[in-house]
Amino acid sequence: MDIQQIKQRFGIIGNSFGLNRAIDVAVQVAPTDLAVLISGESGTGKEVFPQIIHQMSARKHGSYVAVNCGAIPEGTIDSELFGHEKGAFTGALTDRKGYFQEADGGTIFLDEIGELPLSTQVRLLRVLETGEFMKVGSSKVLKTDVRVVAATNVDMDTAIKEGKFREDLFYRLNSVPIKMPPLRERAEDIYLLFRKFSSDFANRYRMPAIRLNAEAKDLLMGYRWPGNIRQLKNITEQISVIEQKRDIDGEAITQYLPYHSGDNLPAIINSSGDSKAKSADFNTEREILYKVLFDMKKDMGDLKKLVHGLMQEGNVTAQPEHANIIQKLYQSEDGDFVPEKNVQSIGYPSAAPAESNVIEDTEEFVEESLSLADKEIELIKKALDKYNGKRKQAAKDLGISERTLYRKIKEYKIEG
Ligand SMILES: Nc1ncnc2c1ncn2[C@@H]1O[C@H](COP(=O)(O)OP(=O)(O)OP(=O)(O)O)[C@@H](O)[C@H]1O
Ligand SMILES: [Mg+2]
Repeated sequence: MDIQQIKQRFGIIGNSFGLNRAIDVAVQVAPTDLAVLISGESGTGKEVFPQIIHQMSARKHGSYVAVNCGAIPEGTIDSELFGHEKGAFTGALTDRKGYFQEADGGTIFLDEIGELPLSTQVRLLRVLETGEFMKVGSSKVLKTDVRVVAATNVDMDTAIKEGKFREDLFYRLNSVPIKMPPLRERAEDIYLLFRKFSSDFANRYRMPAIRLNAEAKDLLMGYRWPGNIRQLKNITEQISVIEQKRDIDGEAITQYLPYHSGDNLPAIINSSGDSKAKSADFNTEREILYKVLFDMKKDMGDLKKLVHGLMQEGNVTAQPEHANIIQKLYQSEDGDFVPEKNVQSIGYPSAAPAESNVIEDTEEFVEESLSLADKEIELIKKALDKYNGKRKQAAKDLGISERTLYRKIKEYKIEG
């Protein structure tokens, strides 16, 4: 298979030296069992590489398991990767196979490897060196035959210097490095990608593709693209959907290309009036969201008291059809309303009890929760947009951890 066929098969657009070189290395290394580390800024297109490596290797009929290490909570990552024994911790009701066991004979893709907790790094080093691992809560040594491909968008040198990543593990993973250059260093790919994305969106939205005049094309090619291909894709979609005219000139495109003062840094907050305003706007929305949650919590408290009072007075006996909602009112352990837990579970249709008098209240409640979820989605999208898809900064601005953000992006299936 030559490089053009590979691009076609995996939907890769571009013909720059850096991209071709990366594909070349992936193809060369695929038949070996060497570990590969793919590094590059966020949005540069790393995710397709482990698939190329797997598909072009003798393991292609084995399983391919992709794990986003940044999205798994620290407390469960060992168990997810290596499995656990029944009773290893509270809630471990049965034995569980880990991804390393599931991928036996195949390939495991460890995305966002820089996010791996240090204790997990020790286990990973062992499995890389000897193929041996132990399930959480077990002292029995198990074996697995897995090819590891990892990816990172953080600077591993810094992570090592800061003591967040083990140097020995880094060298072990980095047997073959593949570096994805940022989009601004592959200028000739920018327009090719733009044309592909604009024609894809034209098909999707059933409208003619947008076209750029010479000035707009120059601006597109000269832009720094801090969010790389992901940002180019998002912006092409925005223009395709929002602009009435299909011929885009310099003035029109400028509105979609945010100005960035640093190299890859999003506009520094406080340095420009514009982003300040944006951030203030954003904070206000967050405050509103918190207020809504706070009010809901208060309403729930009142409701609980009311039900409790009525039940004690004997005005209400717990009918079977009420049991569900009463249980819901008291479901959190500390007797307090936990917004996250409830918002999530109540978003599902099954949370409403079937035909009873209570249903009206429940429906109202469900609706409120759903709109909260919508608000949350909207805020997450806004934050991602503001930072051109950079999740770290987006999470910071949202006031949640990066892990929580990952989880929510996954849960709400928010397009990256
Ligand atoms: N060469 C390319 N041709 C076509 N689409 C591409 C190309 N490179 C990236 N993309 C698209 O750009 C988006 C971002 O790519 P990808 O998810 O691989 O980024 P990433 O490097 O893994 O970023 P992150 O570090 O943030 O996870 C995806 O929708 C992907 O399909
Ligand atoms: Mg990725």
